[in-house]
Amino acid sequence: MPSTSTALWHPQAHMPSVAGDRLVITRGEGAYVETSDGRRLLDATAGLWHANIGHGRASVARAAARQMERLETYHLFGRFANLPALELAERVAAAGPVPDAKVFWTSGGSDAVELACKLARRLWQHEGRAAKRVIVSREQAYHGLHGFGTSIAGLASNREGYGSESLIPETLLVANAGLDAALGSIDAIGPERVAAVVAEPIMGTGGVIAPPPGYLPGLQAYCRAHDILFVVDEVITGFGRAGALFACERFGLEPDMVLMAKGITSGYAPLGGVLIGPRVWQPFFDGDHAPVFRHGLTYSGHATACAVAQENLDVLEQEGLVARAATLELALRRILAPLADHPLVAEVRSTAGFMAGVRLVADAPGELIARGCIERGVITRVITDNVLQICPPFVVGEDELRQIADVLAASLDEVGAAA
Ligand SMILES: Cc1ncc(COP(=O)(O)O)c(C=O)c1O
Repeated sequence: MPSTSTALWHPQAHMPSVAGDRLVITRGEGAYVETSDGRRLLDATAGLWHANIGHGRASVARAAARQMERLETYHLFGRFANLPALELAERVAAAGPVPDAKVFWTSGGSDAVELACKLARRLWQHEGRAAKRVIVSREQAYHGLHGFGTSIAGLASNREGYGSESLIPETLLVANAGLDAALGSIDAIGPERVAAVVAEPIMGTGGVIAPPPGYLPGLQAYCRAHDILFVVDEVITGFGRAGALFACERFGLEPDMVLMAKGITSGYAPLGGVLIGPRVWQPFFDGDHAPVFRHGLTYSGHATACAVAQENLDVLEQEGLVARAATLELALRRILAPLADHPLVAEVRSTAGFMAGVRLVADAPGELIARGCIERGVITRVITDNVLQICPPFVVGEDELRQIADVLAASLDEVGAAA
């Protein structure tokens, strides 16, 4: 019986608690999923922020099958390539916020973070500025869990316990809200030592935190002035979640690199990538003495994943889902706002993007409240700061947003009454 299997080690899980308490998802359709014990749940978290076009799209399955029947994949090392990786690179480079961009494909978001941090250091070393090695990130930041992602994590629980404060030395955490404080910290170590600043436009896992006005443009301007690469992690916000194809458009940013994953396939296949601007790619593309960037993955630009991404982007375009997400953002804000009056709620965070966080008061039992929501038919989960994550697929309607708010309220009431 798969639900009682003891072989699987779950990511980010307290395994003694998981045993006997698994929630096995067996099907998905639109904004809903079904469980192995026959329940139908509204997926208010879009899985892990990924299911932008919703679950169970047959057209995406057909695109995958068509590609697999022709060629499952072929790698991109050296002079080899496959057509879907080439075509998707053209499309995403043209649509993305980095002018004249190149695309380096990865298998997911953490891979994209790893690539960007390595490439930043590699560029400066190539340019004879090997002292520029520090990677700056922000408190509360989440950039996946590979070596660099762990080392630049702004969430202590993801960073600690590996024998030192971080796996990879020469990282710096700065304030995520106060621009002056952030820049002051960089000044203090010396911007000439900094290779790159990495920032989520809207923090996701850190608790759904939108940037204060001027923070990101200010950070970008500082980076420009000090020869520091500005890297925007759009793993969550890319492909519509911010109410624009990329959050960079919304915040007027033009970074040196943009990280992508999740929404590029809406989760129908694992794929990530980095959009890379000319400041970074030129030395690797020009001249006989251009260095080789010794990086890549077997599945960089996996052909089936890229074919799936093409169909996902077609669906986003044909159904106007990015514009829909922008409209839903306003509805979500309006519908969740009254929850702020609940005694167990400290704040409703819904400033930017079709994503919200209901921050519970510090001593509210978040896990219990999230569990109560699932029992009432709505999936949410607790992220940093005792925040309940709300970011449904873009196919939900206002009725479903109201259902989410009602279920949250009912679960909060139940826990409040029992206290
Ligand atoms: C902002 C951000 N960067 C990177 C990642 C890592 O992506 P992945 O889990 O695909 O490796 C995530 C995942 O949630 C993320 O939210």
